[in-house]
Amino acid sequence: MAEEVAIPNKSILKSPALLEYIYETYCYPREHEQLKDLREATVKNYKLRSPMSVPVDEGQLISMFLKVMNAKKTIEVGVFTGYSLLTTALALPHDAKITAIDLNREAYEVGLPFIQKAGVDHKINFIESAASCALDDLINDEKEVGSFDFAFVDANKDGYIKYHEQLVKLIKIGGVIAYDNTLWFGTVALSDEDEMDDFFKTNRKIIREVNTFLANDNRFEISLVSIGDGLTICRRLY
Ligand SMILES: C[S@@+](CC[C@H](N)C(=O)[O-])C[C@H]1O[C@@H](n2cnc3c(N)ncnc32)[C@H](O)[C@@H]1O
Repeated sequence: MAEEVAIPNKSILKSPALLEYIYETYCYPREHEQLKDLREATVKNYKLRSPMSVPVDEGQLISMFLKVMNAKKTIEVGVFTGYSLLTTALALPHDAKITAIDLNREAYEVGLPFIQKAGVDHKINFIESAASCALDDLINDEKEVGSFDFAFVDANKDGYIKYHEQLVKLIKIGGVIAYDNTLWFGTVALSDEDEMDDFFKTNRKIIREVNTFLANDNRFEISLVSIGDGLTICRRLY
C-alpha cells in the first residue's frame, strides 16, 4: 500500500514575510492614491491605534465584492478615519449612498480631506452617534427598511449581535452584512487557560459568541474569510 502523504496545513499565511509579499505584489501597487494618503495620515495621527483600519488586502476584497454585487446603498458601522469607508465610496457608483455611523467625528475628520480629494464625499452621510441608536432611527423610517445592499460592521464587538438583529431589518433579501475581526488575532482558537492580555481576552469571548451566533443563523448563507483579522460575510436568504 502506498505511504499516506501528510496534507499540509491549509492556513495560507505562514509568516509576516508572506503577508508583506502579498501587499507588495498585489495590494500597494493598486491602492488608490487617496487611500494610501489616508492610511499614512492615520498612522501619523493615531500611531498606536492605526491598525484599527482595515488592511489593504481586505479593503480590495470588499471593493471587488461591492462591484460584483452591484451595490448602491450601504451602511458602515465603525468609521474611524475612514479607510474602509473611502474604499466603499470609491467602489460604488456616482449616485450611491453610504450611511456611515461612528461615535467619534474627530477621527473621521482626519480622513475627510482625502475622501473629498477623491471626489466621493457626496455619497456619504456621516452620522455621529452610537450605532444602535442610529440603526433604530433607520428602522423607524419605513422607506429605509429592507433597502440596503450591504453593511460593513467594524465597531464595538459587544454590539455585533444587537447590530445583526437591527441590520436584518435594513438589508434586502440577497444583501450582505460583513463583520470584521471575527478571528480576533487568532485568539478565538485558544483555550481559556492560555495566557493572553486582557485586551485579547475580553473580546475573544465576545467574538466566539458572535461566531457561534452567526454560524447558527439560518436566515443567512455565511462564509468566514481568513483575510485581515477575519471577515464573516453573511448573505440574507429570507
Ligand atoms: C476598528 S475602528 C473602525 C475602522 C474602520 N472600519 C477603518 O477601516 O478605518 C472602530 C470604530 O468604531 C467606533 N465605535 C466604537 N463603539 C461604537 C458604537 N457603540 N457606536 C458607533 N461607533 C462605535 C469607534 O469610535 C471606532 O472609530
